[in-house]
Formats: sequence, structure tokens, C-alpha cells
Amino acid sequence: MIIGVPKEIKEVEKRVGMTPQGVDALVVHGHRVLVERSAGKGSGFSDQEYQKAGATLVEGPKNIWEGADMVVKVKEPLEPEFSLMRPGQVLFTYLHLAANRELTLELMEHRIVGIGYETVQGQDGSLPLLRPMSEIAGRASVLAGGMCLEARHGGRGVLLCGASGVPPAKVVILGAGVVGSNACKVALGIGASVSILDIHPERLSYLHDITQGHIATFISNRMTIGEEIASADLVIGAVLIPGAHAPKLVTRLMLKRMRHGSAVVDVSVDQGGCFETTRPTTHENPTYVEEGIVHYCVANIPGAFPRTSTFALTNATFPYILQIADKGYEKAMEENEALRKGLNLIGGQVVYRAVAESFGLAFAQNPFSPPSLKNPS
Ligand SMILES: NC(=O)c1ccc[n+]([C@@H]2O[C@H](COP(=O)([O-])OP(=O)(O)OC[C@H]3O[C@@H](n4cnc5c(N)ncnc54)[C@H](O)[C@@H]3O)[C@@H](O)[C@H]2O)c1
Repeated sequence: MIIGVPKEIKEVEKRVGMTPQGVDALVVHGHRVLVERSAGKGSGFSDQEYQKAGATLVEGPKNIWEGADMVVKVKEPLEPEFSLMRPGQVLFTYLHLAANRELTLELMEHRIVGIGYETVQGQDGSLPLLRPMSEIAGRASVLAGGMCLEARHGGRGVLLCGASGVPPAKVVILGAGVVGSNACKVALGIGASVSILDIHPERLSYLHDITQGHIATFISNRMTIGEEIASADLVIGAVLIPGAHAPKLVTRLMLKRMRHGSAVVDVSVDQGGCFETTRPTTHENPTYVEEGIVHYCVANIPGAFPRTSTFALTNATFPYILQIADKGYEKAMEENEALRKGLNLIGGQVVYRAVAESFGLAFAQNPFSPPSLKNPS
């Protein structure tokens, strides 16, 4: 198969869909990989590294889209790429179509085989290609919070780990899912005093066990949140109700009861945020102060760490890329249920129900589903 890796064109996107290591593995399997010149630059991969791994370097996106059977990217295609897409071409990338009608219609019109990273789903409901970015956001949220606590950013001037004779900072984490548990590991590793709240006791029990009881765990409710954050130096918002707006767990009144110069990092900002005072910020201007509390609400935290993020993402996507390349997308999807769930569009039809419902478009059955799933009796 010929696999194409274009340079990302979305503003400030520095990740790339494949590392030189991925190119090497595909070439060993007999495939050909076209990489757009300077595609890996933002993640610290030179053209020479790709070339050494066996890639063919090409100029400009046109040559990638023209030559590739499968295009592997990070972000959804943008307007300049629409006219380059070819019917029957496989596109493997984050698509997030349910929020983008224009792109859905373009992919339908161009009869793209659109596989979205975000809908590849394990049997247990897990989202293996979203998880790596949540891991990174969770870990980085503690570093961002530490920065917010610096005096020059309006913080209380508290060092997360404290010092000998000086107690560490108190970090309160709302939500013990992927983001929350990764924030917990880093905060604990740094030496902070950590409290974590969730509505699911089993999540708390898991974290309590793996940290050997070195954290305080609480069932999340309004009163306990209020009590815990009142004495916090840093609060990290990491809750998610799948498919819904994040619940506003911390009201302005609760925030007013926190100590002046404390910080909040709202990782859930991409779902609307879990603090009443949250408003999205960017890496260029990441913080603002409201009610005396430093807020950090960047919606794409992993974007600050393109090299780590590219490795983490491609570690997760690569096994699927290899299966598609080796078997062809039809067989790969017949045999791999998780990958099959990633298929959003094929032959001009929407085969992912939530996307069809979002825009009132006709829904077609996934052609690779086993017969028992197509016609449930
Ligand atoms: N800002 C960024 O760059 C960035 C990056 C990755 C993920 N995110 C976002 O971070 C959020 C968390 O993602 P995740 O992967 O950890 O999700 P997850 O599903 O793994 O975890 C969410 C947790 O929130 C808990 N929860 C739900 N309601 C709660 C409540 N009322 N009180 C306490 N806990 C509650 C759930 O039980 C679950 O354990 C999502 O909104 C996700 O989109 C943001």
C-alpha cells in the first residue's frame, strides 16, 4: 500500500501522523510511505530521519493526496485539502465529525473512507486513540498548575513540593478518569498532598490501592467539593460525562471561599469546563485571574508538547495503520471490531450513527459489521 503523511496545516498544530520509526516498520512490511517535506519538523523529526527510515520525501500536500491509498494525519482536513481528496481514499485521523457539518458533507462528496481516531473503541467502551492525549493533558495539568502558583503569574508563590520544614501544596483533583489519575500520579510524584474526588467508588478504590493510600479519596458531591477546595492551593478539573456538557461543579461562590492566589486548571474546558468562571484560553495567553484565583483553561494542552504527543499518539495509532496496510481496510475492519467502530463514512454514506443524527443525514449500516449485528433479530 502507498501511505501518505502530509504536514499538518491547522494553526499551531505541530504534531505529525507518523514517526520515522513508523515509516521504517511499514517499509519493512513492503509498503511505500510518502512524507511531505518538513512534515515532522514541529515534532523534532528531520526530513533526513524520514528518508533514512525509507520514506519518499515529496513537495507539497498535492503530491501526498494524489499518490497515497491511505492518508494518515493528526487533525481533520481543512478547506485547502478538500479538493485534493480522491474517491475511495482511506483517511485515518481525528475527524470529530459530529461537530463539523461542512467537513462531513465534503468527505461524503469525495467518497472518502473516513476512519476517525476518536471513535475507534474497545469492547469495554474505552477509546484507545483518545486516551494518549488525556494522559498527556492530565500529567501536564500539574506542571501548568505549578506555574500558575508562581508569584509572577498572580499565584500565592507556593512550590508544589514544599521544602524541608515547609509543607507541600494541596492539590485537589475533580474526576478520577484518565486525566485525573494521570494528574494524580504526577502531583504525588512531585511531592504534593493530593485529594481526588469522583462519583464512581471503584475509580477511587483503584487509585487508593496503586498509591498505597498516599492520597485522600472522596465521593464527589457539592458539600465535599466545597470543603476540599477551600483549603486547596491547586484544583484540577478533570470530569467528563460522555457526550454531554461538563457539569459545573465549582460555582463562583465556592471559588470566592478559596484562598487568594490559589490556582485552577480546567482540563475539561473542551467540554465547556467544570468551573463557573472558566473561559477557554490559548497557549499564547494561557491564564487569567478571576476572584483572585489564577485560571488556566487551555483546550489543547498536548499541543504544548508536540514531540511527546506525537510519540504517544502514533504508539496508539500505528498497530491499526499496519493492519490496514497489510490486510486492506475491508479485511482489517472485518477482523478488528475496535477499528470497525472507527469507520464514520464510506462511499458517500455516513455509517456512524451519532454523526448521521447530528445533521439529520441518512444513516447506513457499517458494511463490515458481522451479519448478526446488521440485522439484529
Ligand atoms: N484540555 C485538554 O487539552 C484536554 C485533553 C484531553 C482531554 N481533555 C478533557 O478532559 C476531560 C476528562 O477526560 P478523561 O479522558 O479523563 O475522561 P474519563 O471519562 O476518563 O474521566 C472522567 C471522570 O469524571 C468523573 N466524573 C463525572 N462526573 C463527575 C462529578 N460530578 N464529580 C466527580 N467526577 C465526575 C467520571 O466518573 C470519570 O471518572 C474531558 O472533558 C476531556 O475532553 C481535555
